[in-house]
Amino acid sequence: MPGLRAPLLTPDGDGMRFERDGVLRWKDGWILPDREPGDAQHLPDVLLIPGLIDSHIHLPQYRVRGRFHEALLPWLREHIWPEEARFAERDYREGVTDEFREGLLDAGTTAAMVYGAPAADSAHAVLRDLAPLTIRGGDVLMDRNGLDDLLRTPDAALRDAEALAAEYGERYVLTPRFVPTCSAELMAGCGSLLARTPARLQTHLAENLDEVAWVADLHPDLRSYTAVYAHYGLLGPRTVMGHCIHLDDLDLRLLSRSGTWAAHCPTSNIALGSGRMPLERLQAAGVPVALGTDVGAGPDVSMLDVLHTFLQVHRGFADPSPSEGLRLATRASALAMGEGDRGELVAGRRADVVALHLPGGLQRSDDGDSALQRVLDAFAGRWTEAVAGVWIDGRRLR
Ligand code: GUN
Ligand code: ZN
Repeated sequence: MPGLRAPLLTPDGDGMRFERDGVLRWKDGWILPDREPGDAQHLPDVLLIPGLIDSHIHLPQYRVRGRFHEALLPWLREHIWPEEARFAERDYREGVTDEFREGLLDAGTTAAMVYGAPAADSAHAVLRDLAPLTIRGGDVLMDRNGLDDLLRTPDAALRDAEALAAEYGERYVLTPRFVPTCSAELMAGCGSLLARTPARLQTHLAENLDEVAWVADLHPDLRSYTAVYAHYGLLGPRTVMGHCIHLDDLDLRLLSRSGTWAAHCPTSNIALGSGRMPLERLQAAGVPVALGTDVGAGPDVSMLDVLHTFLQVHRGFADPSPSEGLRLATRASALAMGEGDRGELVAGRRADVVALHLPGGLQRSDDGDSALQRVLDAFAGRWTEAVAGVWIDGRRLR
């Protein structure tokens, strides 16, 4: 039976578990309770963690990641929407999809919740062509205030979404881009599909102050941006809202009471000057939080980059520990995307594993936090070099 032996850090139920001499065994891709070292492969100078999971990433933006110098709305118009229009061309789409899959594996990402482009066929690139990664996602839906090439009528967008939800079941994620590009009819239709199919839903919420003001202009009858999504039935435990930065206490209560997830993307927020997400307020309100890269606004597909930045931006506020951050980049993201069998190295879960190079090996004084922090410090800015091995469902891919 295959297995690995090395120091191991993982979420385990509500806590975190650190084992100096960890043993991981699996069969048919499922982690076993058996912890006997037996013939487990001994890996020197690494730290084993669960496969990293990205709760918010845009496939068609891969080639233009890191092109930021303005704020959200001009960046979308100048850099992102023209690139997403190119995704209609089959050869271009296939090339980007191959690079994206390999880039995520190089970075140690084993699962992701993915935005496609605003065309139905991009859903197949997301849900079929990124294997062996575990993917949930869908085509972006938009029917107003965008490039003409990217707009479908609400009827056509909803008909496509219904067919894709039937084809891909719970792996399909309804993906209305955000309120400014989605009519009332489109949002109401998404609410209806969310209620009557197993599909999930992802979108953006309160990332940028100009965006928030635009939504207030478009929907003067509703109290807030969050209230617009609530009005159309788009909140709930199968919904993941990207960003959630500029929210008041009533908004946080709407998210918390409905069980809606926040996908927090700190590298993206820095790149676009969006502001710091008030993690301590979301946590106090009981809003569940996962981490994401938001590539292409985020410059790097590495969830280690996101974790490193996450620890920096919340220093002096929520002050999360490295292992708390790792939980958000693994188990929390797994739960946000509906993959409850993944995101922790625990018996009965899938064997998605990443081995990180631990410079100098485990020190006598190390605990899980210090070991992980040493990895982050050693590989900042050259994240793929930190990755010593990647397994999905027990199969080694890197
Ligand atoms: N808001 C609406 N669309 C997008 C997008 O593609 N990226 C980001 N970061 N925010 C958005
Ligand atoms: Zn995004």
